[in-house]
Amino acid sequence: MCGIIGYIGNKNAINIILEGLKKLEYRGYDSAGLAFVNDSQIEIVKCKGKISNLESLIKPATFSTSAIGHTRWATHGKPSNENAHPHTSRSIALVHNGIIENYIELKKELEAEGYKFNSETDTEVIAHLIGKYRKELSLVDAVRKACLRLRGSYAIVLIDRNEPDMLIGVRMESPLVIGVSDEERFIASDIPAFLNYCRNVVFLEDGEMVLLSKEGFKIYNLNGEEKEKKVHTIAWTPSMAEKDGFKHYMLKEIYEQPRAIADTIRGRVLSDGEVVYEEWGLMPQDMKEFERLYLVACGTSYHACLIGKYMIEEMCEIPVEVDIASEFRYRKVPFGKNSLFVAVTQSGETADTLAALRYAKKSGIKTLSICNVIGSTVSRESDYIFYTRSGPEIGVASTKAFTSQVVAFYILSLALALSRGKISKEMAQDLVIDLMALPRKIEDTLKLDADIQTIVKEVYRKPNFLYLGRGINYPVALEGALKLKEISYIHAEGYAAGEMKHGPIALIEENFPVVFITSHGSLLEKTISNIQEIKARDGFVITITDTNKGLLNRLSDKLLYIEGSNPYLNPVIFTVPLQLFAYYIAVLRGCDVDQPRNLAKSVTVE
Ligand code: F6R
Repeated sequence: MCGIIGYIGNKNAINIILEGLKKLEYRGYDSAGLAFVNDSQIEIVKCKGKISNLESLIKPATFSTSAIGHTRWATHGKPSNENAHPHTSRSIALVHNGIIENYIELKKELEAEGYKFNSETDTEVIAHLIGKYRKELSLVDAVRKACLRLRGSYAIVLIDRNEPDMLIGVRMESPLVIGVSDEERFIASDIPAFLNYCRNVVFLEDGEMVLLSKEGFKIYNLNGEEKEKKVHTIAWTPSMAEKDGFKHYMLKEIYEQPRAIADTIRGRVLSDGEVVYEEWGLMPQDMKEFERLYLVACGTSYHACLIGKYMIEEMCEIPVEVDIASEFRYRKVPFGKNSLFVAVTQSGETADTLAALRYAKKSGIKTLSICNVIGSTVSRESDYIFYTRSGPEIGVASTKAFTSQVVAFYILSLALALSRGKISKEMAQDLVIDLMALPRKIEDTLKLDADIQTIVKEVYRKPNFLYLGRGINYPVALEGALKLKEISYIHAEGYAAGEMKHGPIALIEENFPVVFITSHGSLLEKTISNIQEIKARDGFVITITDTNKGLLNRLSDKLLYIEGSNPYLNPVIFTVPLQLFAYYIAVLRGCDVDQPRNLAKSVTVE
């Protein structure tokens, strides 16, 4: 998400911050800014757009030996000069990466006390909270007291004009790393920001606060107890550091999914089963009105819509139509007046999805978008908006954006079902408990990495693959096949398992690889029959499942057992091994995983 860099030492901090921000550009950003102390005053320079714009705003010969800088990827409030970091309050300036769940309640409290907000960000709440406590406390105590009131994830770095020889950083569920060199210290969200200057680093843990000065650093927990930390030496090249040590962005993004999903859930549901509506604008009374939903998207986002259909129809008993945007925009759709159109798009700029949205709007029906990029065209033009919070996705093949979209559909289904009285409070609570456990289950699923690499070695030379699933796992089969074909250039087809006998079975011969995705439940026996049909023709069966039934085990040539969740969330969990499967096959075939041939990250032409 956002990038942070801070410096304190003897060199000109402004140059080091600008250089560090450029090193963070690879993460994607929409605005940038920096702050430093000059003549006992805080100076802020910030703007929307590129770092070169920021550079042009800095007066020549500006000098300071400490400064903080930030690249912003919008989460609260559109990309703008006002929303760019740093944010200020009284004597402090602060940059932040993460999401503050209780910012609305804190903002109301601060506004009632007379604090004026200049931005739409959750970050400004942190600045004012520290500013408020700073009136009567030392800087360190004010930061600590403010942090204890925050709920959510944050990495913050701040300066205070009254303490110009010190930088403070605090970490809670958002990375922050310190660089330690002779008479200078760095602090950043990512190592590449300072790797040219320093290779000795200290990683902060959740709930730790660091005080940095030229002379040294001290780390405390939020109760004020000092902590000893180990200094690590980083051997990574700059390119490895950008990918956090992973070989490709795609692999890094697959591994980021527990975080991306936790952020997408954050503040959207409460543990008692309630849904929080404030941010997306769609209220329970609106939800009651809808008689039909149209879910429209392209590619991987279209697969998320197919999963959404199963969830919404089953949980909420509302008819749902799903369409590919490039088809939908040219159809004559007889919308009922109480319909809701839902555009799903990672980038928010896909030409066909945008055209479909405009077509739906013209007919006068309400529109919602599920989108990953704040301020993108689709998000701006929709009546309601649910932002996934995957952070920038750099690998062309969509991974973390997809699983976050499915989570968004789960929350939407929960909201629709509750508002229409289709589920009880107790059921909603159970569904939320499952949702909260999802990031941990994905972490566990990622531990199958080595097993997947072993299976892949047996099949990566095969020219064709078939992926089969039933019910809500059918779109997972489609997504698995799409991942494989787009990054490894192997021909792969996803099919509804029940449809196999109507054609694809003709393909099956000895060792033809077929990937089955199947959960426990009523469709399991039918899927087992399909597996038997493949085995009768000597196909090679790879099964991904959350049930370790003996027969399934015996029939499958390879079986990946995964701890599942409820049937609505299993598609998220099952997708993870399919992403890894495609990834390792592509690597073994020597393909350009992050930038597959002929593909673009965002398809802005028809
Ligand atoms: C596949 C992939 C594409 C996108 C599609 C829609 O891995 O990334 O199929 O899903 O181009 O893009 P968005 O979601 O940005 O509208």
